[in-house]
Amino acid sequence: MVYFDNAATSWPKPESVYKAMDHFSRQVGANPGRSGHKLSVEAERIVLNARELLAEIFAIDDSARMILTFNATDSLNLAIKCLLRKGDHAVTSVFEHNSVLRPLRRLEQQGIIELTVLPCTKEGFLDPADVEKSIRPNTKLVSIIHASNVTGTIMPVEEIGEIVSKYDGAYYMIDAAQTAGVIPIDVKKYKLDLLAIPGHKCLFGPQGTGGLYIGEGLEEIMPSFKEGGTGSLSEQDVHPDFMPDKYESGTKNTGGLAGLAAGIEFIMKTGTDKIHKHEKALTEQLICGIQKIEGVTMYGPQDANRQTAVVSINVEGLRSNEVGYYLDQQQGIMTRVGLHCAPLAHRAMGTSPDGTVRLSMGYFNTAEEVDYVCNALQKLAKNGI
Ligand SMILES: Cc1ncc(COP(=O)(O)O)c(C=O)c1O
Repeated sequence: MVYFDNAATSWPKPESVYKAMDHFSRQVGANPGRSGHKLSVEAERIVLNARELLAEIFAIDDSARMILTFNATDSLNLAIKCLLRKGDHAVTSVFEHNSVLRPLRRLEQQGIIELTVLPCTKEGFLDPADVEKSIRPNTKLVSIIHASNVTGTIMPVEEIGEIVSKYDGAYYMIDAAQTAGVIPIDVKKYKLDLLAIPGHKCLFGPQGTGGLYIGEGLEEIMPSFKEGGTGSLSEQDVHPDFMPDKYESGTKNTGGLAGLAAGIEFIMKTGTDKIHKHEKALTEQLICGIQKIEGVTMYGPQDANRQTAVVSINVEGLRSNEVGYYLDQQQGIMTRVGLHCAPLAHRAMGTSPDGTVRLSMGYFNTAEEVDYVCNALQKLAKNGI
């Protein structure tokens, strides 16, 4: 079996991730920060460790600014809905995931915000000059995807950060769902006010983990998203306003966070450079292999220096779901077909409504697997289903 669906969730995980989760389930199991007994204190230590590792990997000075969420969608919703107020303007791009587009569209449809959705090239590139032109006196949020989950296209996020930082009252968020863990992210270097990440993709954590970095001072203007038990200030019936409790309440996915911490430790031990280099080599190999196959169309930059390990294709005469079904059932290759929760990206690429077949690789894929996938596609393009 070949797993080429890492852009949805990375799999397999490093062995240490399974061990950490097993250890939590069997040996700890308690609720973090609530009860004060030994096991509860150990659970809280696991949560703190995950938070501190997340802060370290993204060069965040104060780990209390890393809010633990359950996925990237949670993080993006928290940021968008707590930051934007009546009369604000937000800027985003057509290559965004629905977890950015849909919350923004909802606020727009309710007459709360004005929204500018910037065009991209069909390869997925956004021109930073367009961002600058779109900024208005009431622009509160510029939210840009770091790398496309459809084509892997890496956006000029550092240049956009420079631009947004010149405008008072405008805040900058990147959706790093496809990059966190594989492309180094430094919140200061990128001039980020908000950074949304999932734990279950390139950070090697399990599903049900994620995070949102909230930059200094933003907690003054962003109300809490949900209120409830925090294990702090329990004598009060109003929610605490300090970080991170202001944005975290209810029981955490502590077992998941144990796994996420092990995933980040694996990345730190292995080195982001080594992980990135391996994924880049696989991407190069896959792009070269597919370019030689007649009857297969490839989308996106087709350049491993300008994209993550995500390659979108279509096979002439076949619908994307037919190709995906064939690869899964006949060849044991797991991919994701369709619109990948990015409808506007597919419209820009000219692949709507059928979408594409997305091949997405991770650190644990091999050159042999890439060859196997290329051979399978070659056979399919030649002989059909
Ligand atoms: C670019 C992008 N943003 C956001 C998300 C949402 O992530 P999650 O599934 O962790 O909510 C995804 C998921 O695939 C994604 O690829």
